[in-house]
Amino acid sequence: MRFSQRLEKLPPYLFVEISRKIAEKRAKGEDVVTFGVGDPDLPTPQHVLEAGAEASSVPANHRYPETDGLPELRRAIAGWYEGRFGVRLDPSKEVLPLIGAKEGVAHAALAFVDPGDVALIGDPAYPACWAGVMFAGGEPYSMPLLEENGFRPDLTSVPRQAAEKATMMYLNYPNNPTAGLAELDFFEEAVAFAKRHDIPLLHDACYTEVAFDGYRPHSILELPGARDIAIEFHSLSKTYNMTGWRIGMAVGNAQLVNALFKIKSNLDSGIPQSIQQMGIAALSGPQDYLAQRNAIYQRRRDKLIPVLARLGLRMSSPKASLYLWARVPQGYTSGQYATMLLDQLSIVVSPGRGFGKYGEGYVRLSMTVSDSDVDKAVERLRGWKPKG
Ligand SMILES: Cc1ncc(COP(=O)(O)O)c(C=O)c1O
Repeated sequence: MRFSQRLEKLPPYLFVEISRKIAEKRAKGEDVVTFGVGDPDLPTPQHVLEAGAEASSVPANHRYPETDGLPELRRAIAGWYEGRFGVRLDPSKEVLPLIGAKEGVAHAALAFVDPGDVALIGDPAYPACWAGVMFAGGEPYSMPLLEENGFRPDLTSVPRQAAEKATMMYLNYPNNPTAGLAELDFFEEAVAFAKRHDIPLLHDACYTEVAFDGYRPHSILELPGARDIAIEFHSLSKTYNMTGWRIGMAVGNAQLVNALFKIKSNLDSGIPQSIQQMGIAALSGPQDYLAQRNAIYQRRRDKLIPVLARLGLRMSSPKASLYLWARVPQGYTSGQYATMLLDQLSIVVSPGRGFGKYGEGYVRLSMTVSDSDVDKAVERLRGWKPKG
């Protein structure tokens, strides 16, 4: 049997590898604390669950959904964007529900990239965007996200050749994995760059609702003129603890939204309607729980940082996203340090290299771990002397 070259070239998905290692350890009876995947441990809000339970017994919801979702869901998304960011969207043209942002991010490359084209990607990046470009036959061009630049790319240093061959640019703020932030002045620069090169700007804004210390992340669409060139991804996964339900959205430029719709309508049949009803309940219902939930993450952040710092893992305290992005002590690669934590303390962290070459030298810890597991990890890390 022969498999495609595409498959041969595809690395194993980062978190599949991590899950395999965890399963091995657990099978041996070890108590593993995992800061690996950014998968909220806290439950989906009750009113959202109730909306789903009610909708699941309605026969109309047992049938195929439309790829572009229920009009009520598109309206709820537009309503949420207006309430949260003051951005008005046309729910019939500028909103596309997704089966989670992951598929939207990966499929978008099929709409904008041909074989041999270049996709500009802030590196390190969420792994699905590398895979999407590869599936489309494109060449990713890594724009380094360096600590000294606040983990934002220096757009003036993108070589002219790469910029000329580029057919899309992917950015993500608040950033996974670095927890880097972007304000409107950076978005303005990015939009100007995309306009100058006439390329779609794909902005992944999945973490705007996970923020601390009073910080309020922006949507790129708040910027006048961004809609001429940009599409923004969002997810209900992190905002409403809904990773298991699979629902997100792409919004913004109508032509770009329609291009993604065309790809998706040939591939999938949309989000199950009872889950769309959960999305409507989440987006239109009370939002006060977000502050309580963020306070929990903030507490975990503040417990973990000092003990990590004592081990020589340097980082700034994140103001948004689910992640601590810690520089590993000198003399270790990110993979070596992650392996040591797993072997010696049964603690899982993600090696930064898995997010791109500029992730080397860092490990990522997701704060989606129960408070008791955070305490357990703090105990294990306190006084730990790495062997090797
Ligand atoms: C930047 C980014 N985009 C998209 C996703 C995926 O979101 P969803 O669960 O909606 O597919 C993630 C998940 O970790 C992410 O970090």
